[in-house]
Amino acid sequence: MSNVKFFGGEQYPVEMHKVRIIQKLTLLPIEERLRAAEDAGHNTFLLQNADVFLDMLTDSGVNAMSQEQQAAMFRADDAYAGSATFTRLREKVVEIFGMPYFLPTHQGRAAENILSSVLVRPGTYVPMNYHFTTSKAHIVANGGEVLEFIKPEGLEVTSDLPFKGDMDVQALRDLIADKGADAVSYVRIEVGTNLIGGQPVSLGNMEEVCALCREHGIPTVMDASLIADNLYFAKVRDPRCADLEIGEIMRAMCDPFDVVYFSARKVGFGRGGGICVRETAMYHRLRELVPLYEGFLTYGGMSVREMEAITVGLDETLDFDMINQGPIFIDYMVRELERRGVPVITPPGGLGAHVDARRFLDHLPPHEYPAAALASAVFIASGVRGMERGTMSEQRNADGTEPVAHMELVRLAMPRRVFTLSQVNYAIDRLDWLYQNRRLIGGLTFVEEPEILRFFFGRLAPLTDWPSKLVAKFREDFGDSL
Ligand code: F0G
Repeated sequence: MSNVKFFGGEQYPVEMHKVRIIQKLTLLPIEERLRAAEDAGHNTFLLQNADVFLDMLTDSGVNAMSQEQQAAMFRADDAYAGSATFTRLREKVVEIFGMPYFLPTHQGRAAENILSSVLVRPGTYVPMNYHFTTSKAHIVANGGEVLEFIKPEGLEVTSDLPFKGDMDVQALRDLIADKGADAVSYVRIEVGTNLIGGQPVSLGNMEEVCALCREHGIPTVMDASLIADNLYFAKVRDPRCADLEIGEIMRAMCDPFDVVYFSARKVGFGRGGGICVRETAMYHRLRELVPLYEGFLTYGGMSVREMEAITVGLDETLDFDMINQGPIFIDYMVRELERRGVPVITPPGGLGAHVDARRFLDHLPPHEYPAAALASAVFIASGVRGMERGTMSEQRNADGTEPVAHMELVRLAMPRRVFTLSQVNYAIDRLDWLYQNRRLIGGLTFVEEPEILRFFFGRLAPLTDWPSKLVAKFREDFGDSL
């Protein structure tokens, strides 16, 4: 997206790419969408993609690749050990992230499994700016306790703060003073945040946290899965980064850390992951587990084709025209929703538009899962598949009580370069309609509740017949429209 001004004064994002391969979509009539929602236990993870019109569940592994990525996949060197494909990937990773060692994993959570198994000492803390579902589950499974030191402003749903993902350094300092550095296994910074609206972290905050940890001998770990958006925000929101090249910002961000891991389903637009390590001793400790869980050290569970695509994708992450498409489309969607009164997280972040279900459905208590109910209602009303990111995504406490999530969000992810602006406008229009009819939406209750990561395959049922009422109102307002 370049600086293109419109004669008429409007400001629309203009894509700096063209679409050369397409996938046909279907939009089912609303009655069939309701049936699909029921079959899925009102959990959007359980929908069949054939029943979905716009899949905004995630941007993980579903971004549109460039022709250079596709072309690179053809030259993959298929060898179990010592593949030239892996060498190319490792060299690119070392160049971009600036750390000497790289361990491949099949995706981001596999990196988390290895890091948590090696670094978490049972009974210790892992402070972080904010948790992600899989990162927390691995730390807890290894006997650690996650502490979230997001600055209080980070949890304010509407704000104009540029870096709401920043960690509260004083809270970390107090913890170290109170419990001692030995009580901390490592500190994790998610750059940028996922569950609180894709909000970025500032370079200065990363430097401050890492300097404090270094003083106390505490390892620092960056989760760089969402770093592409973070680079964009650093460039446009942080005066310190305005004159730096994207590659220079990347290096400045990684330099203070001991370990950087990532999901290449996000950064790199492929399907894989990995861990970058600075110290030889740490590398040796982590390396042990790669052949055990992932595969040999030169593929780590990734296909050679994906590794080739990731190598090119990582390189393209340094191209401002490549990484700004997501945040600019998200900005458009958030601003347009806000203009229509739909409650959204502001400022717009990365990853997607985040609708605030707590305000949208302020008539529903948290234990009726407002975000899950809204995600289901959005699908029924539009065929757009979003993701619940609220209380349903939390895990029950050991005593069976249910924590209420800090934020109750429906995330409408923006897979990069996948949707056109008219499709985004369609999603905005249906959300507008749903907001005008929000009182029709009721709560949900679990009918099947898995113990771990229950949001993935838990099934829910409506507490009343609100979904049918929603369908009836849609027909009244839209006639025979899809
Ligand atoms: N860390 C962050 C910040 C993530 O957003 C994700 C995945 C992971 C780690 C795990 O990576 O999926 O490759 O195992 N986020 C996806 C999402 C699932 O939809 O937001 P993974």
